[in-house]
Amino acid sequence: MSKKLSFPKNKIKVLLVEGIHQQAADLFRAEGYQVELINTGLDEDELIDKIKDVRILGIRSKTQITQKVLDHAPHLLAIGAFCIGTNQIDLEACQEKGIIVFNAPYSNTRSVVELAIAEIIMLMRNLPDKIMAMHRGEWQKSASQSNEIRNKTLGIVGYGNIGAQLSIMAEAMGMKVYYYDIEEKLALGNAVKCQSLHELLALADVVSLHVDGRPENKNMIGEKEFAAMKDGVIFLNLSRGFVVDVEALQKAIEKGKVRGAGIDVFPKEPKNNSQPFESVLIGQRNTILTPHIGGSTLEAQINIATFVPEQIISFINSGSTTTSVNFPRLQLPVLEQGHRLIHIHHNTAGVLARIDQVLASHGINIIGQYLKTNEKIGYVITDINKQYPPSVMEELRNIEGTIRLRVLY
Ligand code: NAI
Repeated sequence: MSKKLSFPKNKIKVLLVEGIHQQAADLFRAEGYQVELINTGLDEDELIDKIKDVRILGIRSKTQITQKVLDHAPHLLAIGAFCIGTNQIDLEACQEKGIIVFNAPYSNTRSVVELAIAEIIMLMRNLPDKIMAMHRGEWQKSASQSNEIRNKTLGIVGYGNIGAQLSIMAEAMGMKVYYYDIEEKLALGNAVKCQSLHELLALADVVSLHVDGRPENKNMIGEKEFAAMKDGVIFLNLSRGFVVDVEALQKAIEKGKVRGAGIDVFPKEPKNNSQPFESVLIGQRNTILTPHIGGSTLEAQINIATFVPEQIISFINSGSTTTSVNFPRLQLPVLEQGHRLIHIHHNTAGVLARIDQVLASHGINIIGQYLKTNEKIGYVITDINKQYPPSVMEELRNIEGTIRLRVLY
């Protein structure tokens, strides 16, 4: 059997741009790959220049992966988005070329939760106003409008990864937790599920939003919802800017309905650090405004730089696609014996049957086979006995609709 089929690891070139944490380079090097780490972003032409021999590309949110870039990347197998979003990548073009994309959606969960806890404590003590006064040279020693968070009621809207972790931590600090989610979610600890958003709003001393960015959530918290909250509520949004009607929030703060707000995300955010920030919330009483940094910590960066390489290495070594953004998701057993054929094809009927026909015509024994499809592509993994003529690979590549064939052993 030809040794040329499974690609030697030391020939796998990895290009990491945009100052991805060193941890990622270390993990890839430990696998035996060649790694180039660049601290800046690359524009389209610079990337095209670099990408010819690259098999694994790591980017963050600024590098645009266009059709043109992909057309110049004949060997590219995988792209790691070392961030949450993947809008900067032409995912469909990647699929067409059999290039898998991974991201790190949950690596900064804890960071967001810690900021939320910090803000709840600060707002309960009216600290933003007290701090501002001190900076103006005013001494305002008073216990008025200062509370502990113990025994207060926290209402979490959106009980996903962040909401659920906040639930545990808030409870550990003595808060009573209620939550509302549109999906069925298991209550953690002593948290109590609410049947409706309005039920939660009426109960909570602190309302914290952790919903996702689906379009229906636009302005889900507006005038009516603020009116349904307790007088003097504390309100947090560290999820997505467009889910809150900020004009309604501003009015609620001015009326004293909301006595403190922590806002990290905004309907309109500056595109970069040199653009100004504009909002009706600027200058509002007891209001913490932060520049979308809920998830921005060094620890989150390290988590991202660990999670993404682990996913890519697992894909290279076993074909697993469990957390991929654009491939059908398959968790595969480790390949103990034999060879693993990884066949990526356009999702048309009969490809699996044709793969099996080719193998049967050579009398090749299939040890295990796995198939998963999405709308566009099919992903077939076939583990076979080691003995087969090299022409089998050619025949498999020639099956109509084949995008890519890779062999592991
Ligand atoms: P997730 O997808 O795990 O959880 C979202 C939850 O919200 C889901 O359980 C979903 O069913 C629920 N949901 C959606 N619409 C709802 C509605 N109208 N009412 C009630 N529940 C609803 O997401 P994860 O990881 O917990 O993130 C939550 C939010 O935090 C996302 O919007 C994410 O973009 C944002 N985020 C913000 C960061 C920051 O820097 N401020 C960093 C990381 C995430």
